[in-house]
Amino acid sequence: MSSPSQWGRRLEIMNNRNLGSFFPLSLIAAVGIISGASSIEAQDIDRPWMNPKLPPLERAELVLKQMTRDEKLALVHGNGMAHVPNWQMPLTYLSNGGAGYVEGVKRLGIPPIVISDAAYGVRDSGANGRYATAMPSNLGAASSWDSESACSYGEVIGAELRAQGFNMTLGGGVNLTREPRNGRTFEYAGEDPLLAGTLVGSMMKCEQNQHVIGDIKHYALNDQETGRSIVNAIISKRPMQESDLLAFHIAISIANPGAVMCSYNRINGDFSCENSYMLRDVLKKDWDFKGFVISDWGGTHSTEKASAAGLDQEEPMADYFGPRLKEAVDAGKVPLSEIDDHARRVLYAEFLSGVVDDPPHKGVIDVEKGFEVAQRVEEKSIVLLKNNQGVLPIDPSKVHSIAIIGGHADVGMLSGGGSAQVDPPGGNAIMPPGKGETHWQDHIWFPTSPLKALRAKLPDTKIGFDSGTDLKSAVSLAKHSDLAIVFAYQWISEDMDLPSLSLPDNRDALIEQVAAANPRTIVVLETGTAVTMPWLDKVAGIVEAWYAGSSGHKALANVLVGDVNPTGKLAITFPRSEKDLPHPVIPSLPPRDQALSYAVHYDEGPEVGYKWYETQHKQPLFAFGFGLSYTTYAYSDLSVDSSAKTARFTVKNTGKRAGTEIAEVYGRLPRGADESFKRLVGWKRVTLAPGESQTVTIAIDPRVLETFDEASDRWNLVPGSYEVLVGASSDNTPLTGSLSVH
Ligand code: BGC
Repeated sequence: MSSPSQWGRRLEIMNNRNLGSFFPLSLIAAVGIISGASSIEAQDIDRPWMNPKLPPLERAELVLKQMTRDEKLALVHGNGMAHVPNWQMPLTYLSNGGAGYVEGVKRLGIPPIVISDAAYGVRDSGANGRYATAMPSNLGAASSWDSESACSYGEVIGAELRAQGFNMTLGGGVNLTREPRNGRTFEYAGEDPLLAGTLVGSMMKCEQNQHVIGDIKHYALNDQETGRSIVNAIISKRPMQESDLLAFHIAISIANPGAVMCSYNRINGDFSCENSYMLRDVLKKDWDFKGFVISDWGGTHSTEKASAAGLDQEEPMADYFGPRLKEAVDAGKVPLSEIDDHARRVLYAEFLSGVVDDPPHKGVIDVEKGFEVAQRVEEKSIVLLKNNQGVLPIDPSKVHSIAIIGGHADVGMLSGGGSAQVDPPGGNAIMPPGKGETHWQDHIWFPTSPLKALRAKLPDTKIGFDSGTDLKSAVSLAKHSDLAIVFAYQWISEDMDLPSLSLPDNRDALIEQVAAANPRTIVVLETGTAVTMPWLDKVAGIVEAWYAGSSGHKALANVLVGDVNPTGKLAITFPRSEKDLPHPVIPSLPPRDQALSYAVHYDEGPEVGYKWYETQHKQPLFAFGFGLSYTTYAYSDLSVDSSAKTARFTVKNTGKRAGTEIAEVYGRLPRGADESFKRLVGWKRVTLAPGESQTVTIAIDPRVLETFDEASDRWNLVPGSYEVLVGASSDNTPLTGSLSVH
């Protein structure tokens, strides 16, 4: 086990990661084949494992039998990380500029694993002289509640990874939003296990279908960044299983990923990457996961313990799974069967994902397709939070002048930082003076100006811009315009948590003053998580655009003018104040020599997000599942079929525009289950013309009705009467019915 000072060193290394300088679009090119991943004759008779018709596990077994011990040991560790000076090994130069590189077995036709981060797009492309699409943030895209969008999202990323020569992704974050100040909230899919698991699972399934090894991370309970490599997440089995682990299980069962990344933190005492309950008992035994467990970068802490617990591959170095593992095998401390199991799992993932049969070829990506998909996803992700007296969509016959204020809206839109960061074409659109290169904790802006996009949409409207730095001049522009739109942003990143959910840089005051000057003030938010809104009652409209990706400005302009009717609904609760959170304050770090005492007690158990607000009788600012449209909907006629486990009801578009309503179904367990909150059990996107009604049938997913019994380690469907609630959001469920379970 490493000492706290080693964790400190790791953190420093992570913080110093240099994203490199950016290259212009014109440098995108380079055709070739990644080294070692040579094309392979599928029917080679000397190599029966090359027969693509055989099941992946059988192929893995066949090739494993031919491998030497050293070849097997080479599969269980990385060989350094590009662009990180302290993480270099002799083979790092083969890494293709990504996060990691695992040697293959060339003589047997097993390609190396060439790994890149790719949460919302391929990372570090600029530093590698390449270009990648930035999709909207993962949290943004989760607001679409749309598995098809999630699939297109994954397909684009998978194809772009391959075009850069990568055959493994490190996307797939599905940690639940227990702590909305978590700096990685934008990389995850919200607070509900069914929604997050379904969307991340669908994204990764489609990404892996492009023939890259898929990954689901960070397993598990890595729900805050403060002290992430030491924090001990304390939570008992039932709540853990019914919340965070359920999200992982659902995602993994949909995606069938080649890999699962264990997280930095500890869980009930043991580090995730050497936690036998998490890895061996739950993931591999109960869930029957056949792929490999890859450590988060620098998240391995032992050799024998980690190997026995079920860690299969250390990344990005070989501190514990290199020479030390070999010695442990020689000394009989780690049985060879364990090495076989680790290697078999890595091989299985390679066969399963198709990277052996169809290695990546470098090439130029389909840039226009990336723009198109990113725009379509963002159009479904934008959430209309407030729209008093139809201030939106903008009606150019009535609105002749618009004041656009703040948020660098004249230049671009913000993105989320850390290892998820995607490089914008041409470099950071707002490069601080004197800076030539970008670091992973810089605020990075895409050259996607909402001002320009809106001017293109409304050529006959006078649209002025004020940076918002001088309150007086912003107020004056607002006063002399028919409509004011204030752009406000909140930047978040890996390796930090927010001190609060307030907007930074005195933006609350700017919004209040602009709203006081012009009652027709709209706020557009570019945020990675929830924000508090002391000015909520003073503004006429609020649009949450998240980190909007490569075509965010066009999607936003379409929503603002009504060419797209918003459909997105929140995948996280927006609280009124940090005081309402289960942990009003994130516990601060202890002194270095007491690092291991740092713990966070998840006493709220399964009451994550909306479940917490319901049991605590706290009114959120905006509830989970909430989002407005330019039309209105009515719900009626619920009937529940207990044997088929379905809810059937009618949704009617009662307004004057066509639209898509996300109809939500919740279930409340019988008394005996000992819980008082409702759980999301299903939903459907229903597209309706004005005046149209549709009867929809939604299957109630039994996995999310079950409870976990700690004594027997089993899931049960408690007999009794379950309340079924249907409506437009978690706090607006006008229809109720019941489902009986015998
Ligand atoms: C992050 C992972 C990431 C890895 C490689 C770590 O800091 O937690 O999500 O995949 O670095 O860059």
